Amino acid sequence: MYHMFYSTVGNHRSLEGKVAAITGGASGIGEATARLFAQHGTRMVVIADIQDQLGKQVASSIGIDKCSYVHCDVSDEDQVKNTVESIVEKYGQLDIMFSNAGIASSSEQTVLELDISRFDRLFAVNVRGMALCVKHAARVMVEGGVRGSIVCTGSVAASHGLKSRTDYCMTKHAVLGLVRSASLQLGEHGIRVNSVSPNGLVTPLTCRMQGKSVEEVEKVFEAFARLKGVSLKVEHIADAVLFLASNEFVSGHDLVVDGVYVPGSSSTTT
Ligand SMILES: NC(=O)c1ccc[n+]([C@@H]2O[C@H](COP(=O)([O-])OP(=O)(O)OC[C@H]3O[C@@H](n4cnc5c(N)ncnc54)[C@H](O)[C@@H]3O)[C@@H](O)[C@H]2O)c1
Repeated sequence: MYHMFYSTVGNHRSLEGKVAAITGGASGIGEATARLFAQHGTRMVVIADIQDQLGKQVASSIGIDKCSYVHCDVSDEDQVKNTVESIVEKYGQLDIMFSNAGIASSSEQTVLELDISRFDRLFAVNVRGMALCVKHAARVMVEGGVRGSIVCTGSVAASHGLKSRTDYCMTKHAVLGLVRSASLQLGEHGIRVNSVSPNGLVTPLTCRMQGKSVEEVEKVFEAFARLKGVSLKVEHIADAVLFLASNEFVSGHDLVVDGVYVPGSSSTTT
């Protein structure tokens, strides 16, 4: 039997009517994705972040009828639960969770020099935070009978070792374990779970991490890019997230956006 199939690729209304939450949406990859989602017809994008002033500015620049801001530290279960439940209360449902908030590690975090309190803080945000967002988003989707989409931000460091930043590399490997398990468990509810894994790119996170300006960080990443003539931008990652959020049959997939990553090419990779 032939069924009519409508492609969502390139469709500017592919997220029509959807309600989306984006953690870490006040800056970098999350901000670019919030803007792209709004352009693709979402009814509401809720930015959940800890940078209140910036988050509110981004939300109001997208438009108060399309985007709102809520303070949420993803490492705190009560805050994640309240955020997700308040979205359902206000907007009726949650269709998309982009669990993206993350922090970087320091180049001193080699195996031999590992500082365990910094390791613990990194895991609290990058791993516990990611698990909490997937858990609570999935719970309201199951309760509401929503065939939702969850996308987590991994990294090229999720599939390769790094010369330093051991703890960061470990947190991103954990994200893939979460995505693979959650996609297996939630498939029976029609919920898809995927990850997007960027190569290094200029964002406030990488500028802070390297203690360098935007231009300097751009040069660092260009120096080990294999794909010549183009540098990785937040918009490239947002495009990949849009695909994962809107395609109806991709689940359990890690979509790498790396322009051909060369393992071991840099200790600055995030
Ligand atoms: N920039 C890169 O090169 C790169 C590469 C691979 C993966 N990533 C991943 O992409 C994601 C986004 O990073 P980015 O580069 O856009 O950085 P960014 O610093 O611009 O954005 C991260 C956002 O997360 C927020 N955040 C941090 N801790 C939080 C917490 N506890 N609760 C809620 N929000 C919190 C920050 O306030 C910030 O707005 C991260 O998970 C990062 O690991 C980045």
